[in-house]
Amino acid sequence: MEQYAIKGGNPLVGEVEIGGAKNAALAILAASIMTDETVLIENVPDVRDTNAMMQAMESIGAIIERIDRHTVKITGKAIKDLAIEDDFIKKIRASYYLLGALLGKYNKAQVTLPGGCNIGLRPIDQHIKGFRALGAEIRIEHGLIIAEAEQLKGGHIYMDVVSVGATIDVMLAAAMAEGQTIIENAAKEPHVVDVANFLNCMGASIKGAGTDVIRIKGVPKLHGTEYAIIPDQIEAGTFMFAAAVTKGDVTVKNVIPKHLESISAKLTEIGCEVEESDDAVRVVAAKPLTHTHVKTLPYPGFPTDMQPQITVALGLSKGTSIVTESIFENRFKYVDELTRMGASIKVEGNTAIIDGVSKYTGASISAPDLRAGAALVIAGLAAEGTTVIDDIKFIERGYEDFDLKLQSLGAQIEKVSSERELRKFRLKTG
Ligand code: EPZ
Repeated sequence: MEQYAIKGGNPLVGEVEIGGAKNAALAILAASIMTDETVLIENVPDVRDTNAMMQAMESIGAIIERIDRHTVKITGKAIKDLAIEDDFIKKIRASYYLLGALLGKYNKAQVTLPGGCNIGLRPIDQHIKGFRALGAEIRIEHGLIIAEAEQLKGGHIYMDVVSVGATIDVMLAAAMAEGQTIIENAAKEPHVVDVANFLNCMGASIKGAGTDVIRIKGVPKLHGTEYAIIPDQIEAGTFMFAAAVTKGDVTVKNVIPKHLESISAKLTEIGCEVEESDDAVRVVAAKPLTHTHVKTLPYPGFPTDMQPQITVALGLSKGTSIVTESIFENRFKYVDELTRMGASIKVEGNTAIIDGVSKYTGASISAPDLRAGAALVIAGLAAEGTTVIDDIKFIERGYEDFDLKLQSLGAQIEKVSSERELRKFRLKTG
């Protein structure tokens, strides 16, 4: 099984290109089948999740042509099957976007109920509430969600919780419904705005994305378009914190600095210098890091997907810090692994109390989920000695060429797939 081998201690220095936003791409790929015409999508990240989504789409008849590693041409005209196979859902939760897209276009869809995952229960009651408000009949049978309607009609939905997935899914279903739909208490993440912009490029009429009230006027048809996905603010934030933790000097390129404001603010608070330009942000960690408090919140608050990364940084910051996870109920699982590297963290409910230590030491650990896995890589980059990380398939779900990009910044990290390769790495890096 593949692992990352990391020899810590090198400051990360240099520039790194940020790829397309995974969480925008998953929804936009699903939405692309809402027209019979061809859609060209650029800046699609080449990661496990987007590839799994495209496999799910091909499994029901979508024709997908890869123009290059990050550009795909999609034609949904030939879709004949409106039921998404079970094993595709097991691979990625976000296949539920196909529920909204297929229901929106065909007034019928069937998807296996997505399970929970390592960070929480991940219910989809708000998705279902939204579809029902549009007149869909939803049945849950044998672990399947079956959604159908004579004709979807616009409705008024007040989300009980701010949900990125539910906001996007309802937007998809409402795009071709008869009449106007209003979504209140909507999520405002950049990827929600990106999906709305994409749908509008296909001829939809969506206003207010990025605010907590989104208004959608249903249109009878959507047409083909060409679209480029926004940069991934979580990939960018991950490299920014890697610079902080390794006392480095890293510029993340091809980003939208506005999307990174809460991340840049926290890095400044803990002692880093952060310089913004039009499409890049530079992080210089010249001074020792200092403690702070942070609470994860929906955008524009500090993102939950950056919670493990800031916890790793605060674990090496002078003083006591507090991290409160307000979005998911089980997103501190990685702390056990970090403790094995010498961190001093006490988790009580959804709060982590962190006493900064002077160093981490290398250990053999496992990635419990996507963002925690990336955070543990960052810990390994700062640690004394060698760290070996298992289950890196979680990390590859959302980070393209993570090891290669880190190597280009001076990190000693390699993907190894045998004891022999690991031994070679240890001999080479000393
Ligand atoms: C999206 O998940 C992202 N995934 C997650 O990123 C991200 O952590 C999350 O948004 C929050 O930003 C994708 O976009 C594919 P939510 P999603 O619905 O849509 C509760 C990553 O690392 N909730 O905004 O599933 C839910 O339990 C992944 O890329 C309901 O109660 O998240 C959570 O507490 C991890 N009922 C809160 O809302 C629902 O119907 C926010 O969840 C839906 C959600």
